[in-house]
Amino acid sequence: MALADFVADLDALADAAQQAFASVADAAALEEARVEYTGAKAGKLKAAQQGLGKVDKADKPAAGKKFNEVKTAVEAALEAAQQRLAGSAKTQAREAFDPTLPGRPFRLGHLHPVTQTIADMKDIMGRLGFTAVEGPEIEDEWHNFEALNIPAIHPARDPLDNFYLATATTLAPGSSNRGPSPAKGPAAAAREEKPLLLRSQTSTVQIRVMESTPPPVRIISLGRVYRPDTADATHYPMFHQIEGLLIDRGVTMADLKSVLRLFCQSYFGKDEVHIRFRPSFFPFTEPSVEVDMNWQGGWMEMGGAGMVDPNVLRAVGYDPEEVTGFAFGLGVERVCMRQHGITDIRALYENDVRFLSQF
Ligand code: DAH
Repeated sequence: MALADFVADLDALADAAQQAFASVADAAALEEARVEYTGAKAGKLKAAQQGLGKVDKADKPAAGKKFNEVKTAVEAALEAAQQRLAGSAKTQAREAFDPTLPGRPFRLGHLHPVTQTIADMKDIMGRLGFTAVEGPEIEDEWHNFEALNIPAIHPARDPLDNFYLATATTLAPGSSNRGPSPAKGPAAAAREEKPLLLRSQTSTVQIRVMESTPPPVRIISLGRVYRPDTADATHYPMFHQIEGLLIDRGVTMADLKSVLRLFCQSYFGKDEVHIRFRPSFFPFTEPSVEVDMNWQGGWMEMGGAGMVDPNVLRAVGYDPEEVTGFAFGLGVERVCMRQHGITDIRALYENDVRFLSQF
């Protein structure tokens, strides 16, 4: 066979193959074209390769070179077609998803009402210049009681009124009722002297802040507190408090009352809420008051407040002759309940979506 004929046949084959691959519209047509041109047994390229044997011997190198060029071109056309179809499959899948189609209603979550109340409180107190700080929920007796002027004999420290935690020593087998074990090292002894409990009040954070910062101080702290109360409409074994502390020179009870009144009026609206102060007692404030807000024709207790007791100031190394301050601790749930007209605190923690989704 003359070289010119062989080359002409190959050119025709290349054209036809390229056209075929360029025009296939789906995977089945592509496969058909692939078998027709590059099939290993009966493909047209294979046939052309066999034609190589009939070319004059002298022309063989040129014919072989031409064959390789055509083979490469045909394979490239096949690959291009494969990529084109894969790309359009992806586009089709994308187009098949119509994001505007109305499907089942998608329920979005939102913040728990107590979390919303906390955020609003931080916002209002932030505008009054109070910085929000955090404190641990597992506390020692110094921060929960001792430094707050609540001595060991005080009934507030009763194990029945607090969630004391089992420490390593109380948990150790054989450690109870048998007297101190001789093998106990100093570390165990120290642990024994330092019982831990879930904090019963956020007043602990007052102590932690004053221990680590010199006056003046102007902070709030919001978080969970724990008391072994039986749950009823107004009690729950875990609830939240907002604690406030302001220490500076010349702070008076008038400042305390103004800040609390401003806080409540900002939260509920100026004409929406009245608050009153009743004389009371707390070990860590002197004088002390209880703070009520009007609700449903009566008064609802929000929490306690007062002027920080000099003993507390001394416990953290402040000089009560130099600085004075006020503190308050209010129930977050109470405020949240009044805001939304919720009459049972348990509803906040049953986590019934039908209830929670209303707020
Ligand atoms: N810690 C008190 C309680 O849990 C509330 C309280 C009263 C906090 C007076 C204060 C305060 O900071 O000054 O009942």
